[in-house]
Amino acid sequence: MKNIENNRIISRNSNPLQGTIDIPGDKSISHRALMLGAITIGETIITGLLEGDDVQHTVSALRCFGVKIRREGFGKWRINGVGIGGLISPDKLIDVGNSGTSARLLCGLLSGHGFSSMVTGDNSLCSRPMVRVIEPLTQMGATFHASDGDRLPMTITGNDNLMPITYELPVASAQVKSAILLAGLHAPGATSVIELRPTRDHTERMLKYFGADITVEEIAAGNKITIIGQPELIPTEVTVPGDPSSAAFPVVAALLIKGSKIKLPGICKNPNRIGVYTTLLEMGASLEWKNERQVGGETVADLYVKSSELNGVTVPAERAPSMIDEYPALAMAAACASGSSVFCGVGELRYKESDRITAILSGLTECGVSAEVDGDSLIIHGSPTEPVGGITINALMDHRIAMSFLVLGLKSKEAITIDEGSSIYTSFPNFIEIMRGIGADIS
Ligand code: S3P
Repeated sequence: MKNIENNRIISRNSNPLQGTIDIPGDKSISHRALMLGAITIGETIITGLLEGDDVQHTVSALRCFGVKIRREGFGKWRINGVGIGGLISPDKLIDVGNSGTSARLLCGLLSGHGFSSMVTGDNSLCSRPMVRVIEPLTQMGATFHASDGDRLPMTITGNDNLMPITYELPVASAQVKSAILLAGLHAPGATSVIELRPTRDHTERMLKYFGADITVEEIAAGNKITIIGQPELIPTEVTVPGDPSSAAFPVVAALLIKGSKIKLPGICKNPNRIGVYTTLLEMGASLEWKNERQVGGETVADLYVKSSELNGVTVPAERAPSMIDEYPALAMAAACASGSSVFCGVGELRYKESDRITAILSGLTECGVSAEVDGDSLIIHGSPTEPVGGITINALMDHRIAMSFLVLGLKSKEAITIDEGSSIYTSFPNFIEIMRGIGADIS
């Protein structure tokens, strides 16, 4: 139930955090499970699906394209897929809200269908670049009419005779890679994507899990992923593991508040998603992964966290794709660490739900933490003494900015207020409940 009243949220200096937390399902995997289930012939059952707003937008969009999707219980969803190329022309505008993943991956799916649809989103999504998917998908034979050249709202006209391509990604983006692979499923022959820096590979893993003919080859510079267009995928059951991006918020909070000790079972430990945990370990964090296992093509493990004295760190640019969504949470850890931290090569953060470089910089500065930007690097001068706080942060309708500053509020002398917290429902609907459950003073 949505219960953020007036949308303002306040977090205050808190006692040690203790307990075990059930982190909701991974957002990226949830979108992909729904989309692949939708284009499989037969029934796909998903358990542990994230029920946040972003994923609900994917559900609604797929229903508009004729896919039957039923909720059968908390996190349990049943899909009757229509087969590859089987989506039908929608009779209304497709609104995917704040969800960039829904928008860009749907572009890939729709490219292989010979009808037109109009896709839009909220103000934040309508200001994010779409040229990164328009360019390769146009090469494959789809047609796009976008606002201001490359923004939503956008009309996509797919093509029943899509052409396979080989495409080198100009930006490290799993969304772009996935859009091309999903389109490639609908094209005859081999479609290849070359990525110079590995990004999250949930699409590749899940395509394989659904029986697709997909290979990943390590080449001199990065990976070459090749999918063979095919008529059918095999329906299956998907269990969605806990989201390592959502887990980062309680993890950072527990590291910062002295005496804290928490356990997070069943977190996705995909190597392309855990850069933030590698970085926190380098900062001196007490973090331990235990009971590693395989679930539906993904590695999953339990994470144990104890409060720790952190030191500043330099995060190399090569690590950015494996932690691209975690810089806001990591910035709060850096603010409370001894010494300076440098996050190198984080220019992509400007194109997320908000310009996260500016949002982190201005928020930290207002909280009394010294920070600066140097080109594509973000530098934070941390101190283990409590930040001043006592301010209201403009979270810019960005869920990760909102949750990050709420975490900082738990460690600050004075409370931190978030002007607008409803964005948190996009990825971590029970964030406040979960944080309160382990003792955080958030209201
Ligand atoms: C995502 C990929 C990343 C990430 C986003 C989810 C995905 O975006 O920031 O939250 O599910 O593929 P980019 O592909 O733009 O890096």
